[in-house]
Amino acid sequence: MEHNVQLKAYNTFGLEVQAANYSVIRSTAQLQQIIAQDKLQLPVFVLGGGSNILFTKDYTGTVLHNQIEHFEIIEETDETVSLRIGGGNNWHQTVLHCVQQGWGGIENLSLIPGSVGAAPIQNIGAYGAELEQVLKQVYCIDLNTGQENTFSHAQCQFGYRDSIFKRQLKGKVFITYVEIQLSKTPKINMEYGDIKAQLEQMQVTLPTISHISKAIVAIRESKLPNPRDLGNCGSFFKNPVISETQFREIQQKHPEIKFFEVSDGIKVPAGWLIEKSGLKGKQIGNVGMHAQQALVLVNYGHASGTELLYHAQLVQTTVFQKFGIHLEMEVNIW
Ligand code: EPU
Repeated sequence: MEHNVQLKAYNTFGLEVQAANYSVIRSTAQLQQIIAQDKLQLPVFVLGGGSNILFTKDYTGTVLHNQIEHFEIIEETDETVSLRIGGGNNWHQTVLHCVQQGWGGIENLSLIPGSVGAAPIQNIGAYGAELEQVLKQVYCIDLNTGQENTFSHAQCQFGYRDSIFKRQLKGKVFITYVEIQLSKTPKINMEYGDIKAQLEQMQVTLPTISHISKAIVAIRESKLPNPRDLGNCGSFFKNPVISETQFREIQQKHPEIKFFEVSDGIKVPAGWLIEKSGLKGKQIGNVGMHAQQALVLVNYGHASGTELLYHAQLVQTTVFQKFGIHLEMEVNIW
């Protein structure tokens, strides 16, 4: 265990905070040994790619940095391949490798920052796909007992940017491996708005999963800032679900609003609400909502975590005053 470790390089907002206790974890056995010997100082934060965390202060507990790397085919048929992948593997590199092999199912999730172990926590999703569509099992270590548990798809309780790991099990388990099943006869999923236009621009008429991956990389690169250039955590808020009545009122004034019907109401784009509230691309001090995608909170260089959080709260208040809609933060706050 190391002490007072600087986390700037390990969080994509680029915030300078220290972890009181920090350890890199490379295997299940090593983690179990640490739990047995060291009685972890609470709270415990499992760090992956650091792309979904806003630190507003030093971390007083223990940061366990998941670097368990592993890639194994556990079952293969003519149609499918099942993979067991280390929680510390990089998500996008994993996608690229699978796409290269011709295994379909995660190509729409190309270029999402972060690690494989973090992916089920918020059930990563983009461009008409969600991790849960391919996920079979999650392997965890109980941070209290060191015991290994597996969670089936049903036990993970997936929802939109949601799972049991974000709720009851938050800070209680460490995801060691993720098992997914991909298809050797992939179905192309290009229903999401921007994909077809991008493929046309690339002059692709019969797209493969490789084309889909490339198209999505191009779309993401055009809208979402690279954390290496501008600190950010992707979408900072979830897209809110509102009632039919509230939606009709907004639609009457703004017929152009995009929406999706979901089981519990109408989902509307938070980016649109923020843009209409006048905050898109508007820099205040060191922070602002990104000029190409208003849902992305950006650190223009020297912002503190508190400054970023205040701006997020300003966005919440402004959107609430204009539309009466509460935006829920998607990123974890410490
Ligand atoms: N829009 C605006 N202004 C903006 C941004 C969006 O008007 O500044 C409206 C437009 O109408 C646009 C619609 O919102 O057509 C949808 O925008 P976009 O395709 O960029 O997607 P999103 O709903 O804003 C979600 C995810 C993203 C994911 C994209 C693509 C959430 C919270 N965000 O954003 O996920 O990449 O869809 O599937 O669901 C992330 O989670 O970090 C993330 C980037």
